Amino acid sequence: MMKTLLLQSDELETAAAILRNGGLVAMPTETVYGLAADALNGKAVAKIFAAKGRPMDNPLIVHIAELSQIKMLVREFPESARKLAEAFWPGPLTIILPKGDCIPDEVSAGLDTVAIRCPAHDTARRLIRLSSPLAAPSANLSGSPSPTTARHVMDDMNGRIDAVIDGGECRVGVESTVVTLATNPPRLLRPGGITLEQLREVLGEVVLDDAVLHPLQNGQQAASPGMKYKHYSPKANVILLKGTEEAFLRFVNARNDGTSAVLCYEEDKPELRLPYLSVGKAEDYETQANRLFSSLREADERGYHTVYAHCPETEGVGLAVYNRLIRAAGFEVKDLEK
Ligand code: TXA
Ligand code: MG
Repeated sequence: MMKTLLLQSDELETAAAILRNGGLVAMPTETVYGLAADALNGKAVAKIFAAKGRPMDNPLIVHIAELSQIKMLVREFPESARKLAEAFWPGPLTIILPKGDCIPDEVSAGLDTVAIRCPAHDTARRLIRLSSPLAAPSANLSGSPSPTTARHVMDDMNGRIDAVIDGGECRVGVESTVVTLATNPPRLLRPGGITLEQLREVLGEVVLDDAVLHPLQNGQQAASPGMKYKHYSPKANVILLKGTEEAFLRFVNARNDGTSAVLCYEEDKPELRLPYLSVGKAEDYETQANRLFSSLREADERGYHTVYAHCPETEGVGLAVYNRLIRAAGFEVKDLEK
């Protein structure tokens, strides 16, 4: 087991030296914490997979500090990519393009494309400038909810990586939106803080990939390999409930058994007769995204066996919340009207 350093955001020289030497550093971004390695060093990138227990066929996102860095990483830089970068970078959007020759196989997992993102977090961008473009998946053990604080990272990764930079709580709380421009029309592979509606305003037609809302059918190829794995799962069993507010309250209030809790909206709180974790107001999707993963982790810390939650709306950032929760629930929704 190695010793994992806990660094502050004014200790980036130490972090950059670790990265230049082929080590692993967890860094804050505006979405979730990322587990970074030098993206151009295949051996360093391979360590990410070992530390997370991540399947080798799941490619990584390369993080850049400014748009000019993208030129060396991709084979083509179409007009549509320039438009997206202008509208949403730095920010929670990942763009997939045909990969350049310098991208190691460990990053692209054998695909001929590469995912690129310019994060809107000052610490992340300063670290990239001090080191190099950084390959970074979410800094959790594979399968568990993504970390939104340095403590979450330590809970999963202490002893497995060289350092964690504490940059406080992540603003967005769910991972970036992933869109591929390697297909025509462009395709949304993972919803996040940049919405499908926003992408369509810039690009016109954008297709919503099947895997965003539904489980893959047997034999179906995943456009985004990450979508085929069980994801975002706390230890607790997550059950999504669909129906009226009245039906929801009646159902959960009949389950005050000492091991169950509710992932609720602010409006539910006065009516609940069992423990709860509020993710924000019913229509405040940004706050729900911000609190989702930390609430799932907290439910585990408190030892609940079952967590009931509203089946989220799928508009705006709600689509990202739905996409994560439906996976945490193994794609099962209980219809309370039936
Ligand atoms: O917000 C985020 O995106 C965070 C922070 C750290 O930037 N990173 C993150 O990385 O969520 P990760 O590895 O947990 O998720 C990356 C997703 C996976 O579902 C992966 O399969 C997909 O992006 N992906 C990466 N490269 C791809 C490619 N070339 N083609 C298709 N999907 C790709
Ligand atoms: Mg992840």
